[in-house]
Amino acid sequence: MADHTVYEIDNSGIEPLSNHSNNTTFAEVLTERRQFLKGSLGTAVAAFMGVSLAGCGGDDDDNKSPASSSSSSSSSLASSSSSAASSSVAPLLGFTAIATNRNDTITVPAGYTATPFVPWGTPLTGTMPAYKADASNTGADQEQQVGAHHDGVYFFPMDAKTTGTNSSEGLLVMNHEYLDDKLFHKNGATLGATRPADEVRKEIAGHGVSVIHIRKNGSNWEVVNGSPFNRRITGATPMDIRGPAAGSTLLATKYSPNGTATRGTLNNCGMGATPWNTYLTAEENWAGYFVNKDAPQPREHKRYGVSAKNGRYFWETADSGTDEYIRFDASTKGATAMDDYRNEPNTFGWMVEIDPFDPEGRPQKRTALGRFGHEGVIFAPAVEGKPVVCYSGDDSQNEYIYKFISADNYYKATAGGYLLNTGTLYVARFNADGTGEWLPLDITNSTLTAKAALAGVTFANQADLLVNTRLAADIMGATKMDRPEWGAVHPTTNEVYFTLTNNTSRTEAQIDAPNPRANNTTGHIIRWNEDAGKTTFKWDIFLLGGEVGTVTGTGDKAVTLTADNHFASPDGLWIDGRGVVWIQTDMSGTQQGTGPYGNNQMLAADPVTKQLKRFFVGPIDAEVTGVTGTPDMKTMFVNIQHPGDRSTSTSFTSNWPDGSGARPRSATVIVTKNDGGMIGS
Ligand code: FEO
Ligand code: CA
Ligand code: CA
Ligand code: CA
Repeated sequence: MADHTVYEIDNSGIEPLSNHSNNTTFAEVLTERRQFLKGSLGTAVAAFMGVSLAGCGGDDDDNKSPASSSSSSSSSLASSSSSAASSSVAPLLGFTAIATNRNDTITVPAGYTATPFVPWGTPLTGTMPAYKADASNTGADQEQQVGAHHDGVYFFPMDAKTTGTNSSEGLLVMNHEYLDDKLFHKNGATLGATRPADEVRKEIAGHGVSVIHIRKNGSNWEVVNGSPFNRRITGATPMDIRGPAAGSTLLATKYSPNGTATRGTLNNCGMGATPWNTYLTAEENWAGYFVNKDAPQPREHKRYGVSAKNGRYFWETADSGTDEYIRFDASTKGATAMDDYRNEPNTFGWMVEIDPFDPEGRPQKRTALGRFGHEGVIFAPAVEGKPVVCYSGDDSQNEYIYKFISADNYYKATAGGYLLNTGTLYVARFNADGTGEWLPLDITNSTLTAKAALAGVTFANQADLLVNTRLAADIMGATKMDRPEWGAVHPTTNEVYFTLTNNTSRTEAQIDAPNPRANNTTGHIIRWNEDAGKTTFKWDIFLLGGEVGTVTGTGDKAVTLTADNHFASPDGLWIDGRGVVWIQTDMSGTQQGTGPYGNNQMLAADPVTKQLKRFFVGPIDAEVTGVTGTPDMKTMFVNIQHPGDRSTSTSFTSNWPDGSGARPRSATVIVTKNDGGMIGS
């Protein structure tokens, strides 16, 4: 039984540094650094650091510069290196940028309205249990209510599988990343040598995904109560395991001796919509939910940061001792892996496919996309007769960015999840000269097996390699990034953008071209264009986060942040159908409280006109994460996660959205334009 004596649930540091690989040598770092200081980034970094680098070069990078205006507009952005959408369209960002603030409310520009929607606890299925403001709902209640900590979200129009134009009715599907134990129960979590089983049941049910059938009634949106599409998927929902790791002995458990099934999805952060209109939910910081007291831990636990002490919420200590809860203890207990849960953590760390239009369908864990701290996934626009391409970041300090290319081609008439079962997973290496390469993580790749042999590592088969995706990426020499969060792909140019939220562990000696700042507290956004038909690409830094005056780029491509758009810790990212880049921030409570940025926010960028404007500011101690819209872009849905996350069980730092001293709770925000126009116009 539990031997913990410090009964405190730790919600901090959930993106631990567990990459202790040495895949960039010191000499390589020095060489790269010299090269990048000679290149175009040098000036930008020098400007940020207040250092003159005159005479150090500063030529344009390899990317082609479009015939762009040399406007020195104070809210301008470095122009896109792609031939982004023509300028024949009307200006996209017609709103007036809003100022930062520390208000406990949603702030949007003049002419817009923000309305909270489907907060944690909203009754959704079954007996429709009402939310109790003192958080005294039971585990059974929570299984029938909207979960906690809203994150990635997507609006599937009701006609998604045909024309996909319905902007007044659809399925709003969203992730519930984790929960604040202090706010989730009436008196906070009960912590002792064991945990009350119903609290554990409630917490597991607070995680997962909600599928919510919504429609417009006049100008208001409402939940379609009683709809068969309304569904909760939780940390306990039975799921299938598919792809190369399915059936591996590394996934065998007492629950699924043949390694083809598991229960639940956890720490679902970002998401992705597939070209065939299903929802992929990402398992991000799943490792924290498990404990493995074996010494030494197997590599497939240690490299991911599974605790040797206790699970994040001590679920393994549930006083009922039921199988569903004790499975979070992955210590060896039985005679074989089929007698215990030593492999339970290996059934997490995947992308999980859910078909929201099939309420009976079992979620499918797609192992071909790799096992790591998946932040989310983003698909390039599908092309008839060509493979499916998607990208996924691993959000921990010094982890990597991955790409998957399906083995089979996409055909609209027959496309489905099977396309994600077979293909090649790649990891990114960003070179100092602005080029990059996709390194295949494939057991048949002789370079990989040779490098593995040199490192004294063997992979029994592709399943073993995928379970140990991070290790395979280490061996191939992937580039350690400043915490890759969401990605987005421009709908017409296919240019890919990724947020790198921050990395306070990066030292001066570890600076490289794609991660150009030590102790990177404010993050940046990187982007690239694929070289057609090749496994190489060209990249540059789109935007450096930071205080007013922070400069990205040089010459007429330079952008300087102003009071209209300074930001830190970019995280959520979406490019809508018009090519507007929506950037959401996830600053810590301290960074919001003491820095110059105010509450977390969302900005809109137009890479063509080079504008960047603050559009949205969230409530106190909340993260702004997850954004989607109706096809006509006249309704936007934005998720607010963990308002008041520095609260105690008796003292709340936010009362959003209910106000008047109420317990704060995560919720969606519906944004509309008062004149009925498109959002951002
Ligand atoms: Fe769940 Fe990386 O944010
Ligand atoms: Ca995130
Ligand atoms: Ca984050
Ligand atoms: Ca979060």
